[in-house]
Amino acid sequence: MDFINVALPKGRLGEKVYAMFEQSGFECPSIKENNRKLIFENAEKGVRYFWVKPSDVAIYVERGAADIGVAGKDIILEYSPDVYELLDLDIGKCRMAVAAKKGFKDDTSRTLKVATKFSNIAAKYYGEKCRDIDIIHLNGSIEIAPILGLSDVIVDIVETGKTLLENDLMPYETIVPISARLISNKSSYKFKQDKIDLITKCLSEIVRNK
Ligand code: PRP
Repeated sequence: MDFINVALPKGRLGEKVYAMFEQSGFECPSIKENNRKLIFENAEKGVRYFWVKPSDVAIYVERGAADIGVAGKDIILEYSPDVYELLDLDIGKCRMAVAAKKGFKDDTSRTLKVATKFSNIAAKYYGEKCRDIDIIHLNGSIEIAPILGLSDVIVDIVETGKTLLENDLMPYETIVPISARLISNKSSYKFKQDKIDLITKCLSEIVRNK
């Protein structure tokens, strides 16, 4: 039987995603064994799961190493992978926002310094507003940038708002709401369409009945 290869985002979101696949009837009991293995399969169901770094899911799917996977809308918008977006799983919900120190006022006579992991999203957002910016690309702990004067604002994910609050920052604008999406490799979708459609349908029932 043809296996469906599924890239799952490692971590808290991935566990929720796997639970949805399990509930859909595509369980793989060995995944629950607490070890460091990264690949698990259930031959009877014809499904194989890989745990990958959340930001890498779209790469595995785009290149066909995985047929389907679950990636955040943030990653999809930032990297524009050449994949099909099949379903909003309505989990991993947060928003992409602009944040800055309390009392921040944008001085439009100056170039705005923006620190972010999401350079493309930031460039597009400010490009549409015709606001001149200087992007400072960072890989994490973005919240530190305005505190140390490295940037005026940050463009980052806000979920509960706790990280901003604890670092004396405030959200000022919402760029886009984010949630986890089921994505598919384009040629896998052609050759394994029946099974991918079945998985999508089962998952969408779970989303609907949540
Ligand atoms: C994200 C984001 C914020 C935090 C926001 O980081 O970059 O730091 O979550 O969550 P909150 O609003 O609930 O506090 P993440 O933990 O995904 O990892 P990162 O440090 O690699 O960005």
